[in-house]
Order: sequence, then structure tokens, then C-alpha cells
Amino acid sequence: MSRKVLVTGGAGYIGSHVTVELIQAGYDVVVADNMSNCDMTCLEGARKVTGRDDIPFYRIDCCNPDSVRKIFKEHRIDALIHFAAFKAVGESVNSPLKYYRNNLDSFMSVLSAAAENGGCNVLFSSSATVYGEADKQPVTEQSPRKPATSPYGATKQMCEDILQDTVKAGIGIKGMALRYFNPVGAHPSALLGELPRGVPNNLIPYVTQTAIGKRECLSIFGNDYPTPDGTCLRDFIDVVDLAKAHVAAVGRMIDGKMKEDYEIFNIGTGRPVSVLEIVKTFEKVNGLKLNYRFAGRRAGDIMAIWADPSLANEELGWKASRSLEDTLKSAWAWELHLAGKNE
Ligand code: UD1
Repeated sequence: MSRKVLVTGGAGYIGSHVTVELIQAGYDVVVADNMSNCDMTCLEGARKVTGRDDIPFYRIDCCNPDSVRKIFKEHRIDALIHFAAFKAVGESVNSPLKYYRNNLDSFMSVLSAAAENGGCNVLFSSSATVYGEADKQPVTEQSPRKPATSPYGATKQMCEDILQDTVKAGIGIKGMALRYFNPVGAHPSALLGELPRGVPNNLIPYVTQTAIGKRECLSIFGNDYPTPDGTCLRDFIDVVDLAKAHVAAVGRMIDGKMKEDYEIFNIGTGRPVSVLEIVKTFEKVNGLKLNYRFAGRRAGDIMAIWADPSLANEELGWKASRSLEDTLKSAWAWELHLAGKNE
């Protein structure tokens, strides 16, 4: 019998890629999204890529428990993956209550609905941000969680705790948190990808928008860090690789292969890449010149963070495989697609 996964936030950047990979791995997927930070582009893209026009879609706000309950009434859900949350670090600093209210309410209402329904496997979309400014690189799942540097980061930590406590209560919920490093790139079909509203905060959309002329110049925030080229180091994980980690994780949960009822995995490549290296590689693989300049450090940035992904490699049987070159080509193909230039 086919197994069904509820993907909250499934019309968004990561959620839509996960939807594609789950369907291609033979799962049925139900998508819930309130469309507060996306339009139908990525879900339509997912439908095209999978050839499944019938992916059930609920336009609901997950903060409303009744709306989530309705989905559990109408579908037998084997696992749920929770993406439905706000994600802009800077905005969270200016509007903390908006972030705490939405991100915590949404997760708690989803968990309540799952518990009332007799339990469920719950995968939470967490972030490397929970490690804060780590003392040692690469970070393992055992690295201590440092105080969050933003309300956004605090909601990720709190949701991990809420999940762990809910699992401990023994009400039928098994939980997993995947801590993503920096998700980048787009689907190789160029039919789905990152769709930031307004001026992008994240590096790759800023790079692609500069390359296409939507932005005048990319600022590289800081070239005086004590790193090999002076710019920050990150672990850029391809979004399709990341989506495949979810397929492996969901399989482990549904097949009863978890070693603990609550598990945590780092999802990254294990390879630190500098911001300047991103710019140079982007230029090289796409055969273009990017207008960029060095600017001052960005407040709140950490110098370097990258994953030790060996636990996920061993336990999930998953490994990042797409090259940085292919990832950056896909990001550019997506930007061209958005501009209608590669049809
Ligand atoms: C942030 C979040 C992370 C989240 C990720 C989403 C924190 C501390 N970080 O990571 O949780 O998962 O976004 O992708 O909560 N940069 C530039 N110029 C730009 C934009 C960025 O030089 O125009 C540099 C930044 O200084 C940084 C690197 O690029 O060194 C990556 O920045 P960004 O894409 O914003 O991600 P993070 O801040 O690492």
C-alpha cells in the first residue's frame, strides 16, 4: 500500500523539492500551505516534473488546528514534514512576536492534530542556526546548541525542544529534526527553485539576481575574516540533495528503523566553501562576469560553519552528491527560467 506524507509548507522552496522527491520515490503527498511567502510557481513546477496534476493541496494556515485536523480526517497520514514557518533572520529581529507566534503555533497545532489522530512520524525542518557561534568546526549533532542569534533561530531551537518533549510524552509521536546548513540551487528541470520576495537576503538569490540585472551589484559582506580568502565559510547544500535526505529520513521513520524515538541529523556536504569561491565558481560555470564589491561585515554573521554529516551518511544512507558547479548552474537556469529566457 502506498504511504502518505503530509508536507506543510509544501509550496515553498524546500517543501516543493521534497514533494517532488517523495513522489518520485513512490510516496503519496498531501501539501498544505497558506501561501504567505510564495505563489503557486513551485507547486505547479512539482506537478509538471512528476506528471501528477492531482497532488492534493490544502490552502490552510497551520496555526489553525481545525484546518490541520481536517487533513488528518480526510487522509491516513504516515508521516508529516513540517516546513510551514517564517524564515527571514533579519525580519525576525524586527518582528519577534510575529515569528514566535507563527512558528511555534503552527508547529504545535500540527503536532496536536497528529497526536489526536493516534500519533504520527514527524520530521521537523531545523537549521544549523541552532548551533549559533560554534567553538569547533565541523559541527556534529553533539555540538552544543549555543544561544540563538535571532528570534528565527530561537524558534528552531524551541520547535526541536517541543518535538522532543512531545515524543517523550509517549503519545504516539516519533520525531526527527534535520538541521540544514545553507540550502541552495534549484531543480535540474528549472521548473522550481527559490523565489524570494523583494530584495533577497540570502547569497545565491542575490548572486543570480545581480547576474540577470535585477540588482546592480552584489556586496560581499566582509573580506577581513581570518579565513583562507577573508570571506565567510558556509556549507552549501544542494536543495535536491537536501530533498533526498528527507526521503531517506521518512523511510527510516515509517519502516520503524529509528534507533531512538527522537533523532537529529545534520544535513550538509561537510565541505566549507567561501563566499568568494561561490562568486568565482558561479562566474566560471555560467560563463559570465558578476558585478560585485567587498563591503563591511554583516551584523550577526558568523565567520564559518560547516557540517560533519557522517551520522546522516551512515544512518540514513544518504550523502550529498551534486557538485557545487551543477548546483550553481541550476541556480542560474532557474533565474533564467523566471525571466522567461531559457524556454
Ligand atoms: C541564514 C540563516 C540560516 C538559514 C539560511 C537560509 C542564521 C544565522 N543564518 O544563513 O539559518 O538556514 O540563512 O539559507 O540564522 N552574503 C554576502 N552578500 C549577500 C548575502 C550574503 O556576502 O548579499 C554572505 C553572508 O555574509 C554569509 C553568506 O553569504 O557569509 C551566506 O549568507 P546567507 O545566504 O544569508 O545565509 P546565512 O546567513 O549563512
